[in-house]
Amino acid sequence: MKQKKSEEQISCEQLDFDTVLTFVDNLIFTKIGRHLSDPEIILIKGSWDNVDYDEISAGSTYSANYLQRFVGPQLWNLISAIAGTGEKVTKKKLRNFLEKLFHNQYNSQQIEEKNLEEAPSDCSIKINGNPPTTFNFFGREQELNQIGEFIKRYKCVFLIGMAGIGKTALAAKILQQISTNSESKFDCLIWRSVVHTPTVPDLISELRQLIQDPTLDSSPVEYTQAQITTLIKELQSRRCLIVLDEIDKIFQKVSFEQRLEYRLFFRRIIEEQHQSCFILTSRIFPNEFKNLIKNQRPLQYIKLKGLNKDAAMQFLLSQGLADEEQCLELIETYYGHPSELQSVVERINHFFAGSTKIFFDNKTTFISPEFQTVLDELFSKSLNQLECEIMIYLAKHITIDSELISFQKLLKHFNHNPHKNIPVSEIVEAIESLENQSLIENVTHSSSKEIHFSLQPVIKKYIFTDPLGVIRKIEPLSKISVA
Ligand SMILES: Nc1ncnc2c1ncn2[C@@H]1O[C@H](COP(=O)(O)OP(=O)(O)OP(=O)(O)O)[C@@H](O)[C@H]1O
Ligand SMILES: [Mg+2]
Repeated sequence: MKQKKSEEQISCEQLDFDTVLTFVDNLIFTKIGRHLSDPEIILIKGSWDNVDYDEISAGSTYSANYLQRFVGPQLWNLISAIAGTGEKVTKKKLRNFLEKLFHNQYNSQQIEEKNLEEAPSDCSIKINGNPPTTFNFFGREQELNQIGEFIKRYKCVFLIGMAGIGKTALAAKILQQISTNSESKFDCLIWRSVVHTPTVPDLISELRQLIQDPTLDSSPVEYTQAQITTLIKELQSRRCLIVLDEIDKIFQKVSFEQRLEYRLFFRRIIEEQHQSCFILTSRIFPNEFKNLIKNQRPLQYIKLKGLNKDAAMQFLLSQGLADEEQCLELIETYYGHPSELQSVVERINHFFAGSTKIFFDNKTTFISPEFQTVLDELFSKSLNQLECEIMIYLAKHITIDSELISFQKLLKHFNHNPHKNIPVSEIVEAIESLENQSLIENVTHSSSKEIHFSLQPVIKKYIFTDPLGVIRKIEPLSKISVA
């Protein structure tokens, strides 16, 4: 085994290629969970030795054309994205770039190790439960800061957003950050998915097992309210941060009695004295919590939108796409929605040989199968007639030239129109419900302050393709082509 080199040795002597290759491979593996492929290693070696593509190809089984056109651009983008320094790597700059990156990371690792030695040994907190891994996580700095502030002040923080927008990933990231932050004031971090819709007593017993406080009485208690009291005592004695992932399943799927029990459970968690906090992920903000917010109880919510341009770009480059301009177009089409972007990349890789160019020659908007299932359910079961009609109206009237429809225009169509004449209160309620389900987004006009609405192209595409025939039953659509 190679001896670990001393800091002095590494910073003074020339870096050897094997050290750099291991460094890059580890970096890529930690970020996106895969190792470097053979042609990538050959290309990094060739660039390190400053030889041209023909020479690299001559010593390998790959053609110069393949290395230059299909491996190089993706690899340089991947390394630039993963380094996250904002600098673009090219074949020529690679050696210099990697040397700098290695030394920066090496030095900051030394500082971290030194800090760890000096800090008390128990400063990193174990997460109980099984959160998903967070390597390959990009952006969301603003949301992470905001959640960091909220969990200091509130007993309950909701992360709300449409399917696949990244609620689970963000909740897992915040736990992981807190677990390694020596200044965090939490004694106990817990991850629990509630997709199996446990009863309140079952959830309490699962949480108590995860909190594992040996100082408290563990004798079983019969009544639900007494069980809640016991849990709250534990939340008083230890400061716990508890993520309950997919809480919407509880409010959608359980029986009326169970729903009431949960309502009381959360009321007590939010209103009684303790020093812990729950982070709840949900596709919608459940109605039962709206009054608590109005009454200024200690709970808050964050509504998640897609990834911002930088984060989405890093995400796409890390998935192997190369052309930044076309990536930008994808980001705009999919509103930075991570799982829709992931799904389109998978299809570009599968059907278009990983080439955005070929894909853009045959441009179309894809809806992932998962999102299609969510929309099928919404349009066939959850949305009422007026909500569906508003969605159809927006889909018809949002065109390339006008991406936003004003509230006045909606009123004119649904209220001032003698054939419809729907009361304003009903229109407002329908819009609120659509917003709550993240189906439409609103923007306030900067000068007029009037509210405008927009629709994601993926949802618009769904309405026009109308796979279940639900939309056609409500209103025959005029022909507008959606790519
Ligand atoms: N910030 C991010 N960086 C990279 N990938 C992300 C990010 N956020 C989400 N993803 C990826 O997008 C996909 C969907 O994310 P996630 O499962 O967190 O969505 P969700 O909002 O919890 O969806 P659902 O409502 O279905 O539970 C996952 O593969 C996840 O890894
Ligand atoms: Mg989720």
